[in-house]
Amino acid sequence: MTNHHETILVTGSAGFIGFHLSKALLKRGYAVAGVDNLNPYYDVDLKRARLEMLRPYERFRFYHADIQDLGALKGIFTERPIARICNLAAQAGVRHSLKDPFSYQKSNLEGFLNILELAREYRVQNLVYASSSSVYGKNEKSPYSVDDRVDHPISLYAATKKANELMAHAYSHLFGIPCTGLRYFTVYGPWGRPDMALFLFTDAILNKRPITVYNYGKMRRDFTYIDDIIDGTIRAIERPVAYDLFNLGNSDSVGLMDFIRIIEEELGREAEKKMMPLQPGDVPETVADIERSRECLGFNPRTPLREGIRAFLAWYREYYGY
Ligand SMILES: NC(=O)c1ccc[n+]([C@@H]2O[C@H](COP(=O)([O-])OP(=O)(O)OC[C@H]3O[C@@H](n4cnc5c(N)ncnc54)[C@H](O)[C@@H]3O)[C@@H](O)[C@H]2O)c1
Repeated sequence: MTNHHETILVTGSAGFIGFHLSKALLKRGYAVAGVDNLNPYYDVDLKRARLEMLRPYERFRFYHADIQDLGALKGIFTERPIARICNLAAQAGVRHSLKDPFSYQKSNLEGFLNILELAREYRVQNLVYASSSSVYGKNEKSPYSVDDRVDHPISLYAATKKANELMAHAYSHLFGIPCTGLRYFTVYGPWGRPDMALFLFTDAILNKRPITVYNYGKMRRDFTYIDDIIDGTIRAIERPVAYDLFNLGNSDSVGLMDFIRIIEEELGREAEKKMMPLQPGDVPETVADIERSRECLGFNPRTPLREGIRAFLAWYREYYGY
């Protein structure tokens, strides 16, 4: 049974998924201790604006801290009892990991080890953390199943996420910390990330700039709506098990050109397209097998792509004043 008055530590709480998760947990009655270093990987004003939306909740407390700073994190645990942790803080982005590899080492490896150490020292009831569909790398079998071997990452980002799964396994085994990893598949929706396709395309189309279409449009992604991701994440937080891993995807792969067409139709404008080759590190196609996630978590993604894109565009227009 989950005590809805307990405090959950959400790292990356000013980020896209962390903000939505914090809000949903607060609405469910939990207290949330949010941690974020507000780094400038993308527009910090957007991160601050998300935090502003959480401010009205009395049971939300924000800690401006880096997960690399074990002392600062321990300070939070000594201030209040933390029942569970959801670690979403990370350096995200596949392509950026070719440019700035050390930021992945620091946040995703060293930072994650600190999270495991906290879980060990303070005996938390559950640790849930973000992994990624990118761990499937060169996987040729489709859809991607958690039973597939994932020993061939093709970016450092993916390698750090796979490393997190291995580190979590070791800590779960050694210290009995319940750990669940969630492999998220291309998450999109309101308050989304400025470095991801939906945001980049919308911004370019509305400002009459060309969009860059990689792999000449022959990409496929399993786009998963934020509310569905949050639902699955909360289910995992409320279900401590010794060690588990789940795909959280929509289990429906959409071609990049179809994706662009929906955005064009919803904006009522055609995009000028700059066709480019596949980027190093990028996987041409992702599709999630979510049978186990359905069975064990009761995960049931239900948002059709067009509806999700509409919700994103409505937010974008309001936020940026179009
Ligand atoms: N959005 C997706 O499609 C997607 C897909 C797969 C996996 N993920 C993973 O989900 C998690 C959340 O992703 P998101 O899309 O919300 O990204 P995001 O960049 O919006 O959120 C991450 C947040 O963590 C913070 N952060 C980064 N390093 C930190 C550190 N060292 N200490 C404290 N805070 C730090 C950032 O400031 C940011 O606000 C990440 O772990 C990401 O790798 C996301």
